[in-house]
Amino acid sequence: MSVTKSFPDDFVWGVATAAFQIEGALEADGRGESIWDRFSRTPGKIRDGDTAEVACDHYNRWREDIAIMKEIGVNGYRFSISWPRVFPSGTGEINPAGLGFYDRLIDALLEAGITPFPTLYHWDLPQALEDAGGWPHRSTAYAFADYAGTVVGRLGDRVRNWVTINEPWCVAELGYRVGEHAPGRRDAAAALDAAHHVLLAHGLGMQAARAAAPGVAVGIAKNIDVKTPRSAHPADIRVADLEDAFRNRWYLDPVFRGEYPHDGVVARNWDQACVLPGDLDVISAPMDLVGFNYYSRTVVQDDSVDDAERPRPLVEADLPRTTMRWEVYPDGLRDLLVRFNDDYQLPPVYVTENGVAFPDQLIDGAVHDEDRRLYLEQHFKAAAEAQAVGVTLRGFFIWTLMDNFEWAMGYAPRFGLVWTDFDTQERILKDSARWLSEEIAHG
Ligand code: FCB
Repeated sequence: MSVTKSFPDDFVWGVATAAFQIEGALEADGRGESIWDRFSRTPGKIRDGDTAEVACDHYNRWREDIAIMKEIGVNGYRFSISWPRVFPSGTGEINPAGLGFYDRLIDALLEAGITPFPTLYHWDLPQALEDAGGWPHRSTAYAFADYAGTVVGRLGDRVRNWVTINEPWCVAELGYRVGEHAPGRRDAAAALDAAHHVLLAHGLGMQAARAAAPGVAVGIAKNIDVKTPRSAHPADIRVADLEDAFRNRWYLDPVFRGEYPHDGVVARNWDQACVLPGDLDVISAPMDLVGFNYYSRTVVQDDSVDDAERPRPLVEADLPRTTMRWEVYPDGLRDLLVRFNDDYQLPPVYVTENGVAFPDQLIDGAVHDEDRRLYLEQHFKAAAEAQAVGVTLRGFFIWTLMDNFEWAMGYAPRFGLVWTDFDTQERILKDSARWLSEEIAHG
């Protein structure tokens, strides 16, 4: 039986993208510089020296891309709005031409019968705001709220569902602690402040969005990861719990419970000085929806433990891996959805991202990506199992429509349902896209 049959008729089957990864046209129509422009033009930051100047040229080819979505048959599209197109220097004067792009995109989506699910922040902070301190500064959260209110005020008459922030963990940790993502800072204290201000931005952004367009549905998109202890050794379990605190609970506890996880706060010796009275009330205001991005799990261990001391059986990390070296672990999607539903009594849930990069090959005009088809089918099943035990799942967005600029990895990983020829900008449906199309039509 087709797996899509397990979902209700009004289920959203969508694809997801992000502005910086597909649009190109970085200088068009008055767009301002973003931290990703600066970072990706800095030698040594992106694999093979790739940049996103053109990416998928979606800024010029969006009509064709909507036609492709229609051909696949999806009824939802999650994309992001580029803050520096709308406010070139982050605050101040609005750039009508920048907002106009999304205005036209939304009208065309609606005309094609595809429900738009915009994300307000998918990592492309205006460089001017980074120059003024970036996410470690509280003022960035207020700037975000102004931007969110403006955009939702203009588009909220046609768009009901909104995501504030994509993957706050990546913004704070990869951007400010690890430095692997823009703005490339390596400052642990700044990363803690950044994490709080990103969450504050989410809370203030929800307030601004609701004030600008009453009746909109707003929530956050959180990346969720399974952290499996390598053995039942207490030290391994402790490491896994802490990783879970840093990765998952650091963001979910504030949003759903109005507090940071005690074990994580102690482990990081965090004084919470940037948390002002009332912040956690703003952050924990009820959401109308929540998005989860799920890809993989990691097996973790306490490196100071000798293998001989570990109780058997150990978790062997020998599952299939993707181009990103991520384990394929579909059960994790079910397990996390069920766990978080128990722990936090979730509002309506969307899987806002799930998908995979494999070493695709274009042969005679076709991409036979059976591995991707199987990956998706397994994750659809896992989602159906979570739904069957009470998770209110409303939609599933596949990452991603077409091969695109995969951040620090450049164009090497191909995550698309559609092959992008980056020389000619030709798009070719992979077999997985054709399969999905059948599933949606006949499932
Ligand atoms: C997620 C990001 C998305 C994409 C996928 C592979 O973390 O939200 O932009 O890069 O990973």
